[in-house]
Amino acid sequence: MKHLLKLMDLTEKEICEILNTADQLKYEKRNKIPHHILEGKTLGMIFEKSSTRTRVSFEVGMYDLGGAALFLSSRDLQIGRGEPVEDTARVLSRYLDGIMIRTFDQEEVEALAAVGSIPVINGLTDYCHPCQVLADLMTIREHKGTTKGLKLCYIGDGNNMTNSLIVGGIKMGMSVSVACPKGYEPDEKIMKWAESTGSFVCTDDVLEAAKDADVLYTDVWASMGQEGEAEERKKIFSGYQINSEVMAVADKEAMVLHCLPAHREEEITAEVFEAHAEEIFDQAENRLHAQKAVLVKCLA
Ligand code: CP
Ligand code: NVA
Repeated sequence: MKHLLKLMDLTEKEICEILNTADQLKYEKRNKIPHHILEGKTLGMIFEKSSTRTRVSFEVGMYDLGGAALFLSSRDLQIGRGEPVEDTARVLSRYLDGIMIRTFDQEEVEALAAVGSIPVINGLTDYCHPCQVLADLMTIREHKGTTKGLKLCYIGDGNNMTNSLIVGGIKMGMSVSVACPKGYEPDEKIMKWAESTGSFVCTDDVLEAAKDADVLYTDVWASMGQEGEAEERKKIFSGYQINSEVMAVADKEAMVLHCLPAHREEEITAEVFEAHAEEIFDQAENRLHAQKAVLVKCLA
């Protein structure tokens, strides 16, 4: 595996290998067993959007692996003044061993990978968030023992998270149901692919989607870059929320995940969030372990 651009590029076997490595690295970190697998390697982290988890977990991850990470804000880079991504890629390929990028257009990430000569890791675009979903799958395996045969239900905006969850969930043997308002469905091509597997439904009916679900998942109603639509979206998405009514139709043992940051009383009630905080913060912690596994796969 050279890059991590989107989960559609990975086989089930590759995803399993990443999750197994992540479990091993988590065990070693917990037991203070050093793993300087990337000694002397440097990762550049380009951010065109805000981040708490992605930034800190990649930076700490490189440190844990014996390497170093550079935080590169697009506000400071020449990319922010119009230098083409292709030139940036060719320059950074001469200094670094890998690039992690968080940006708007998926095409920008794909262009960086096509032109540069070093591995590129997608740290979120408007289209997908593969690193998050690898951590999500790791967390589901940890809590449920397996991903196979489980029903994953996503409630809310058909956004970057939804796109990656559909692909990662189905590839790992789950059935996926999505509840979103009409006009806010996930990516059309991903839905077509998902429908062809027979393990996918998309509906505007929250309770129908959540029925007997083993994992309930939600994300913000307005993503980064959609701040201007936030008020309008509050009206459109009202009701697309994980609350006690939704929990009542899901499996009794259902877990609740949220990629964070969360907006309490919008996409999730404070009550449900706090009742499942253990799972949600395990999920946030697992960003570190899952991404270290990706770094090892791509950079070692
Ligand atoms: N979930 C996630 O990607 O968080 P950050 O935006 O804080 O990186
Ligand atoms: N959909 C959200 C995810 C944040 C991790 C966003 O793009 O802002």
